[in-house]
Amino acid sequence: MMSEITVDGKLTLKKGSSSKILMKYMDHATEILLHETRARYDAIMVGSNTIRIDNSYLTVRYVEGKSPLRVIPCSRADISLDANVLGTDAPTLIAVSEDAPEDRVRKIREKGVNVARVGKHQVDLPALMRLLKKEYHIGSLMIEGGPTLNWHMLHHRLVDEIRLIHLPFIVGGSDTPSLVGGMHIESEDEMIRLQLKKHYMAGTNLVTEYDVLYPGMQ
Ligand SMILES: NC(=O)c1ccc[n+]([C@@H]2O[C@H](COP(=O)([O-])OP(=O)(O)OC[C@H]3O[C@@H](n4cnc5c(N)ncnc54)[C@H](OP(=O)(O)O)[C@@H]3O)[C@@H](O)[C@H]2O)c1
Repeated sequence: MMSEITVDGKLTLKKGSSSKILMKYMDHATEILLHETRARYDAIMVGSNTIRIDNSYLTVRYVEGKSPLRVIPCSRADISLDANVLGTDAPTLIAVSEDAPEDRVRKIREKGVNVARVGKHQVDLPALMRLLKKEYHIGSLMIEGGPTLNWHMLHHRLVDEIRLIHLPFIVGGSDTPSLVGGMHIESEDEMIRLQLKKHYMAGTNLVTEYDVLYPGMQ
């Protein structure tokens, strides 16, 4: 998982606003690091709401390298048909649930984009990971948020590493999206521990890398 994060743990300026505004303040060396990282992975995943708000491309542009398969969980197949991820600059898989209306699925497929139904009412993320491995030969996947997807992926223990690009700002706001959304935990036994393995500067930005240790893991 890789995210750009403010000192107060936020991923964007305020609820509903694009993280691209914050990303403008990232050092170019860090943008290069982000794109080098994308190029090292077989697939990249963001939640459908990030697509709605940021209209991300998720391609490798600042370095030489192959863009990874873009994977977007979107239970009802209701992202805009004009979304940049449905363009032809990299392959894309939209993962939808069985509830997704067939005409939406057909319209996405007509754009040359793959659609897979995984899960009954919501995309079944563990099943999606198995499908990616088996049918798309994906050995490594990078998650680029947002907080709802981050929480679900952590909840299913599907994240093994977290890399943070620290942006020296405070934006505040109790409902401003932070690194992980979802449900709070009930007790300290449920805390997910992180083990710092690297910290370094990319240009003027501090970057930290952690291994994820789920409850019960040493
Ligand atoms: N700074 C950064 O690094 C960074 C990176 C990415 C995003 N962001 C920011 O994060 C914000 C958006 O975050 P968000 O939390 O609202 O949305 P999100 O995590 O991008 O997307 C969540 C959506 O994904 C869909 N989804 C489908 N199956 C799912 C599943 N099994 N588990 C989880 N989600 C599933 C759901 O929508 P459906 O009901 O349509 O299926 C869900 O609402 C934006 O402001 C964006 O700018 C920041």
